[in-house]
Amino acid sequence: MLFRQLLDPETSTYTYLVADPIFGEAALIDPVLEQVDRDLTLVKELGLTLTHVLETHVHADHVTGAGLLRERTGCQVVASMKGASCVNVHVRHGEQVRVGGLAFWVLATPGHTDDSLSYLVGDCLFTGDALLVRGTGRTDFQNGDAGQLYDSITRVLFLLPDETRVYPAHDYQGRMMTTLGEEKRFNPRLAGKDRAAFIQLMSGLHLPPPRNLELAVSANRACGLPAELSQH
Ligand code: FE2
Repeated sequence: MLFRQLLDPETSTYTYLVADPIFGEAALIDPVLEQVDRDLTLVKELGLTLTHVLETHVHADHVTGAGLLRERTGCQVVASMKGASCVNVHVRHGEQVRVGGLAFWVLATPGHTDDSLSYLVGDCLFTGDALLVRGTGRTDFQNGDAGQLYDSITRVLFLLPDETRVYPAHDYQGRMMTTLGEEKRFNPRLAGKDRAAFIQLMSGLHLPPPRNLELAVSANRACGLPAELSQH
């Protein structure tokens, strides 16, 4: 499996290129509109064909590159049944997306948003904003629900092996990955906290809304392209 972690420094968003070098097929997870040229250059340099964009959720802090990538490459855009209607493939918990010989297992992990998915390929878990390094996504907008997020993390993600490598959609302190075992032990929002304590903690965060929340969400519901350009 070929793997690259890419950063959009403006929004601290991680995009992941995951490919099967034998088949020459690649997926981009959570691409950012402003980084589409960078990402396509890398795909081309590595001799790959972009077949899929996998969205973990409708983002509120940046605009997705999915629509532009689809326009440029003809790739399929994959997201939750509850996600943006502009995507080609709506998936649900337990389904599989195949990229060359790679199988991406879809795990529904709602709570940060109601459409949040995680993707598991081999021992790599892409958690979007459900589980972050020593943190979690916020739960105070986009149908977020702290109790649901606690259940997604503890009853879905934490059932996977402790060694599972976790790649989040963001980190604001330069941390690039973690493992489930580490997060069980050291995540300050989860370690030693029951469901009620987690809900209480999340309701007391009082975070400022992201810049451009409304703009980003409405753009992302159109896959990052103005409605008239969106193909689906
Ligand atoms: Fe998010």
